[in-house]
Amino acid sequence: MNYKKLKRRLKKSWYSYDFDKVKTQYDTLYNIRLKEKKDIVGMQKAGRVAVDLLNHVEEHIRPGITTNYINSLVEEFTKKNHAISAPLNYNGFPKSVCTSINDVICHGIPDDTVLNDGDIVNVDVTPILEGYYADTSKTFFVGSPGKDAEKIVSVARECLQRGILQVKPKNRIGDIGYAIQKYAEGQGCSVVREYVGHGVGFEFHEPPQIPHFGKKGQGIPFVPGMVFTIEPMINLGKYNLHVLSDNWTVVTDDGSLSAQFEQTILVTNNGFEILTPFD
Ligand code: MF3
Ligand code: CO
Ligand code: CO
Repeated sequence: MNYKKLKRRLKKSWYSYDFDKVKTQYDTLYNIRLKEKKDIVGMQKAGRVAVDLLNHVEEHIRPGITTNYINSLVEEFTKKNHAISAPLNYNGFPKSVCTSINDVICHGIPDDTVLNDGDIVNVDVTPILEGYYADTSKTFFVGSPGKDAEKIVSVARECLQRGILQVKPKNRIGDIGYAIQKYAEGQGCSVVREYVGHGVGFEFHEPPQIPHFGKKGQGIPFVPGMVFTIEPMINLGKYNLHVLSDNWTVVTDDGSLSAQFEQTILVTNNGFEILTPFD
């Protein structure tokens, strides 16, 4: 047997031997349910639908449409792909997608609000396909963006990128938040504290929580088979927020713009795989 083959075989046996043990450990210690091969295949398929869904919505974003129209696009496209919208009726959420405009941080409810030239709108989708959840969101420009819109969207996008690059076995959950906070604050922006990333796959929100702020080297170590979202919500002003009287819509206290990008990420043997690969 040549060296390469031997190395491959050793790696395989190490992985399959350790995996069952670690799977039980993570379940017992942290309530984290690691995903095995068949789950990953299922999540890749759900992730594909999620990305197609965002691309489909993006084609229709322009001044003059309502957020209800985005909701109808999501419902129709989800159905056509034999999936189910997780947000609908989730803890009483009344629509199939979250649409968060300008100073809305997250959980905006689609309604008759019209998108205007210069707005930014985050569209957050979570289709369930064959029992597997994939959670992803993007912030879009409506018409031509102003300077502030350009800035917050580019910082939020970069924050997600930098968070993802921390994902590899032996790194820890805190490394994600550290990288994101450092970059965001370095750009004069702030990181939302109350809402965080989360385990995902068998359910909409599973342990662990993934904060987008924090300390290097802290928290649970990544192991292959972990699947979670990274979804930094970044404000142009301060991070303080409040929830509107509809009990869902989260807005910045100071009225500043907020942007967000979200991906569902799998920890692999040597790094990560994006299960909702947009861009
Ligand atoms: N998609 C959101 C997330 O990223 C959760 C939305 S919950 C809802 O975790 F009920 F508002 F849909
Ligand atoms: Co999420
Ligand atoms: Co989401």
